[in-house]
Amino acid sequence: MCSIKVSPKMVPKERPRAMVKNFAVAAVVAAVALVLVFPAPGGSQEIEVGEVMSRIEGAYTEVVNSLLIFPVQEMGDEAPFDKISERLGEIAETARLLPRIENYEDDSSFRNFAGGLEKRAGEMAALAKKKSQAESITALARLQAACLECHKNFRF
Ligand code: HEC
Repeated sequence: MCSIKVSPKMVPKERPRAMVKNFAVAAVVAAVALVLVFPAPGGSQEIEVGEVMSRIEGAYTEVVNSLLIFPVQEMGDEAPFDKISERLGEIAETARLLPRIENYEDDSSFRNFAGGLEKRAGEMAALAKKKSQAESITALARLQAACLECHKNFRF
C-alpha cells in the first residue's frame, strides 16, 4: 500500500479564511454605519420631531420675512413670490414626514393636524404663485392657524 504523506507545508494555511472572516465583519460594520448615517426612507425611528420642526420653522420664517418684512424694508418692491412658494412647498413636503415619527405613528389626531399643515401650505403656495400679496397674507393666517392647532394639542 502506498500512503500519501502530508507534509505540514501542504496543509492550507489559516490565513485566507481569517481574512475572509475579517472582511465579512468589516462589511457588516460598514453596513450598520451606513444605515445609521443614511436611514432607510421607511425607517420611522430615525425621524426626530424637533429636527422636522426646525426645518419647518426655517421655511416658515423665510415665508413671513419675504411676504411681510421684505416689502416694507424695500419700499415698493414686490415680495419674492417664487421663493415664497418654494419654501411653502418645502413645508408641505416636510409635513408629510410628521405622521412617520415613531411617537405619533398611531395617532390619527396628529396625522390630521399634519395633513392640515400640508394642505394649508399647498393652498398658500398656489396663491403665492399668482403673486397676490393680499391673498397670500390671508392664506398665511390660515397656515399659522394650522401650526397653532397642533401645538395646542401636542406641545402645550
Ligand atoms: C402635526 C403637529 C404640528 C404641526 C402642524 C406643527 N408643529 Fe411645530 N411642533 C410640534 C411638536 C410636537 C413640537 C414639539 C417638538 C419637541 O418636542 O421637540 C413642535 C415644536 C415646534 C417648535 C419648537 C422647536 C423647538 O426646538 O423646541 C417650533 C419653532 C415649531 N414647532 C414651529 C412650527 C411651525 C412654524 C409650524 C407651522 C408652519 C408648526 N410648527 C406646525 C408639532 C407640530
